[in-house]
This record gives sequence, C-alpha cells and structure tokens, in this order.
Amino acid sequence: MNTLTKLALGVMGQLRPKPAKGDSATSISLPAPDKHGGLPLMEALARRHSSRDFAPDTLPLPLLSGLLWAAYGLNRTDGGRTAPSALNAQEIDVFVALPSGAYRYDAAAHELHLVAASDLRRVTGYQDFVDEAPMDLVYVADHARMGLVPVGQRESYASAAAGAIAQNVYLFAASSGLATVIRAWIDRPAIADALGLTHDQQVLLSQTVGYPKAGP
Ligand SMILES: Cc1cc2nc3c(=O)[nH]c(=O)nc-3n(C[C@H](O)[C@H](O)[C@H](O)COP(=O)(O)O)c2cc1C
Repeated sequence: MNTLTKLALGVMGQLRPKPAKGDSATSISLPAPDKHGGLPLMEALARRHSSRDFAPDTLPLPLLSGLLWAAYGLNRTDGGRTAPSALNAQEIDVFVALPSGAYRYDAAAHELHLVAASDLRRVTGYQDFVDEAPMDLVYVADHARMGLVPVGQRESYASAAAGAIAQNVYLFAASSGLATVIRAWIDRPAIADALGLTHDQQVLLSQTVGYPKAGP
C-alpha cells in the first residue's frame, strides 16, 4: 500500500492489518542465540546505517533469535538485559510483526507469544516498504512498570531505552548483513489498536529489518 493511501486511511482511523499468511502459532520457541562471532564492534559501527530497500525473504529462526537477543535479550543471570533502562524498570516490550502474526518477545523464555493473528506489518508505518519487508519491530513502553520514575520523565526515559534497543538492532544488522531503519513516522493509535494495547502502553517507535534488496 502506498504512503498516500496509508495517510488517507490513517486520517479516517482505517489503517488496518491484513489476514495472516501461514500458521499463526500461539508461541514460537527461539533457538538459543549464538553469542559468539559476528563482526568486531568497531567494524559493525563502521557499517551501521539506515536502509529502506528490503527483500521480502523470511529471516530464518536462528537469525531472528540472535537479533532479538541482541535487541533486548537477557545477558546476565540476575535478569539484566542487553539494553539499559532507567531504574532497571525494563519498561519496553518488543513486538514483532511477521506475515503470520504479531508477537511479543518474552526475553526470559526467549520465546515469541502471539498477540494478534493478523499481518499488521503495513500498520507499523506510513512508508510503503514496511508492508513487504519480512519483519517490523514495534517498541512499546509500559508505564505501569515505571512507578519509581517521575511521571514527567517517563516518556523521555522510555524513548531513550527504546533508542538503545534500536541501536543494538542496527549493530546486529550491520554485523549480519541485514538492512534496517528505525522509524518514528508511524500511526500510533492504529498500531495500539492492532496490538490490543492497554492505556498504560505507549507506542514509541518502529523498526524494519530484513535482507537488503538485491541491486540491479
Ligand atoms: C528518532 C528517529 C526517528 C526516525 N524516523 C524515521 C522514519 O520515520 N522513517 C525513516 O525512513 N527513517 C527514520 N529515521 C532514520 C533517519 O532518517 C536516519 O537515521 C538518518 O537519516 C541518518 O541516516 P543513518 O541512520 O544511515 O546514519 C529516524 C531516526 C531516528 C533517530
């Protein structure tokens, strides 16, 4: 769907998901992430960039596993994560929009849990590439977990935490030859509706990830 159509539908509150493609499994167990290898950090930083040209090919589960672990997985036995959060509130949930459904990443179990049995990739942003790229991530802050953070700071602290997760994804993508772009130009009410979010949950950002489109 092109951007103008999405904008028009968005104004009318009509930007909606498509039926799911394939099996909307209620949960997806991710294989253990490979925590070795990848590019040296400085090389990954040298390659980090935004890209908006994606091939539609599905990301295999081992790659998805590594990507989600890098994004916001558990990296310590005390429950610590790969990205920081103010007062360790861990208020960000990472939602994963796949053709087969939308899932919430459960870092403790390293699993995906189905939240919507529909293909809501096109709802995750106004830009047309989000519809066909194999995966769009959505970063959502749960304000109910931020009780110790002053109310006036919650949104900015949560946005900083989401930014750290997004950069983890950028570095994983740079290291793995994937394309990615973080996006703020999104229809937040449409995403919240499609994901069935509560009033405590705030959609912050979205991020598309996939293989780069092959050049001519
Ligand atoms: C908070 C934030 C919001 C952004 N929103 C969008 C967006 O909606 N769409 C998009 O294509 N790029 C978006 N970007 C990506 C920027 O356009 C991109 O990072 C910038 O042009 C620099 O390019 P680089 O990432 O390759 O260094 C966003 C970046 C940030 C940090």
